[in-house]
This record gives sequence, structure tokens and C-alpha cells, in this order.
Amino acid sequence: EKDGYDYFMLKEIAEQPKAVADTLLGRIDPSGSLTLDELRITPADLRQIDKVVIVACGTAFHAGLIAKYAIEHWTRIPCEVELASEFRYRDPILGGRSLVIAISQSGETMDTLMALRHAREQGSKVLAICNTNGSTIPRESDAVLYTHAGPEVAVASTKAFLTQLVACYLVALYLCQVRGTKWGDEIQAVIKDLSKISEEVERVLETMEPVRALARTLAGKDTVLFLGRHVGYPVALEGALKLKELAYMHAEGFAAGELKHGPIALIEEDMPVVVVVPSPRNRSLLHDKIVSNIQEIRARGARTIVIAEEGDEAVVPYADHLIRIPATPTLLQPVVATVPLQVFACELAAARGNEVDQPRNLAKSVTVE
Ligand code: M6R
Repeated sequence: EKDGYDYFMLKEIAEQPKAVADTLLGRIDPSGSLTLDELRITPADLRQIDKVVIVACGTAFHAGLIAKYAIEHWTRIPCEVELASEFRYRDPILGGRSLVIAISQSGETMDTLMALRHAREQGSKVLAICNTNGSTIPRESDAVLYTHAGPEVAVASTKAFLTQLVACYLVALYLCQVRGTKWGDEIQAVIKDLSKISEEVERVLETMEPVRALARTLAGKDTVLFLGRHVGYPVALEGALKLKELAYMHAEGFAAGELKHGPIALIEEDMPVVVVVPSPRNRSLLHDKIVSNIQEIRARGARTIVIAEEGDEAVVPYADHLIRIPATPTLLQPVVATVPLQVFACELAAARGNEVDQPRNLAKSVTVE
């Protein structure tokens, strides 16, 4: 059933272009408008929404963090993202005009389920983004948008994450459509880019051999740091989580701008630091800032592993290792930028002799609080 792959995780990484394409299938019509039939909240209700709150755990939480950038930028609706396990304990401010989005691969995560029950008790509508048909979280929600990743067996979430991102983009774009926000050229362009994104994931997968080779050389390291800005920050957090759970290494993700506020003190000679670089095109300020961050850490001895768009020449002088990803609009970049980090963690775990599909102390679905 592993189809010739050594691990389910590798098989699931390879399935990502299809998972992404399947999640988009039938949801964008040829005219470029969106139809999300499982969304059983009325357009009238959606027009009333004054706040979006995303609750999730682990990797799904990282998808939520990325979704916030897209939702706020495209729809201009304020969006909060919270760890489901923290949510109900702080008496969150919710009401009938809050839309709560619960993201879960399994649909059985107890922390997320309790958070959504709390939201519904406060009168909020809950939309589930879920990969498992008929599981508890979608059953208890007002609406559900299924990700079509297919069964995910490896404990480490990979294809479910990419499809969660796609589903979040679809929800954000749908909100724009229904509410008439910015429904013009910018959104049409995003829809076009989104329809091509599975091919970009395919292209990334074709270039992963050097990432594997690099990972194997780092098996003896104690610490790997991950840096990003904007949507690259949650991608950095996801890269670090993958490495913790699979390679049992000390790994941390930071917002690159925070470096000088503390974390830069961690940098030691030859410490690997993975940096996710935003596109140099649209938000060049962001790009320039991260290039200086790379210079700063390199000057302090870091071994820089830079993930940057094809054609981004500014990073070349400061990259000890350069991993190229296809050019994509900034908000969609996490879909392609995460893939090398998954491959990196998988290979490092294997090189350290770990059980890739069944990391110690972890379960695929966490049904206790
Ligand atoms: O099934 P869920 O998406 O609700 O699971 C949430 C987390 O437990 C899950 O993403 C976990 O962090 C993964 N092992 C990460 O790879």
C-alpha cells in the first residue's frame, strides 16, 4: 500500500499535486466564480459576519495562521487564529456575527471539537475544514468544506496541510464573492494562480534530490532554526514542527524580524538556519528585510539554507544552500514553500534511524484533551 515508497509519508508527499487539484476540482467554475456546495451557511448570514475566528491544533493551526493573511487581505474581515486547546478557557468574545472555522484533518481532535462546541454555545456559526467524511467535527458544524487529500496514514501531516491551505483560500475567496469585496481583477488573478498551483507543487517535487542529500549531512546536528516573515513565518513554524516530531531535534521557528529581540543569541558557528524568502516582486520591502536578516545570521556563523523563488538573485551571495521554488504570489507561496521542509524533515528522521510514519509518543489523531 506504500506503492513502492519507503514510508507512507513519502507517498503522501508525492500525492500532494493530486490532493491539491482534487480539493479545487469543481469548486471554481470556468467563468472564475466559486461554488462551495457543502457550505450550508446562507449568503445573507455570511454578509453579516464581522469577525472570523480560526481554531485548530498542530499543523492545522499553521494552516489557520496562513489563512489569516489571506482572509484579512482579500475580505477585510478581522480574523483571529487560536490554538483550539487555549480557546474556550479564556472566555473568547463571540456572537452570532462571528464565523468560527475549525480546521482538522481527522475531524476527531478533541481540543478542536471542544472549541467548536463552545463557539456554537455562544451562537456562532461554525464551518469545518476537514479531510474525513462523516467524522465528528463536520457532523457538529453548521457547514463543512472537505479537503480531498484522501486518507493520510503517516502521523506527520503533509498532504492534508496543503489541501487545508487551498480550502482556506477558497473560503476567503468565497467570502469576497458573497460580500462583493474586491471582486475584481485582483481576485480573478488569484483564482487563476490557484488553479495552476498543483502544477507548481509537482515542479517542486521534481527538484527535491538536493534537499534529501543536504538533510542527510545534517543528521548529527542538535538544533535547526527556521525563519520567515509574513506567510513565511507560519511556514517556518511548520518546518520546525515537522523536524521536532519526526527527527526529535530541537527546532524552532521564528519571525525573522524578531531575531534581534532575542533569538539571534542562539546562533552558533555552523548552526543550520532555514530561511523562507518571500517573493521579490510584489512586496519588495519584505524581501529586502529578509535578505538583511540572512546577512545578519550568516555574519554570526549560521549555515544558511535559503528557500527562494526561481530568479531571486539577491539571496545568492548569502545562501550556503539554495533551494529553489517556483514563483507564486506571496499569499499562495506557502503551498510550494512547505514541500521542501516536509522532505527535509522526512529525510533527516530516516537518517537518524527514526520511525518516520510512527514517531515516538505521538498518535495520528488526538482524541483526548
Ligand atoms: O487531525 P487534526 O488535523 O485535527 O490534527 C491536529 C494535529 O494533531 C496534527 O496536525 C499534528 O500536529 C500532526 N502530527 C502534525 O504533523
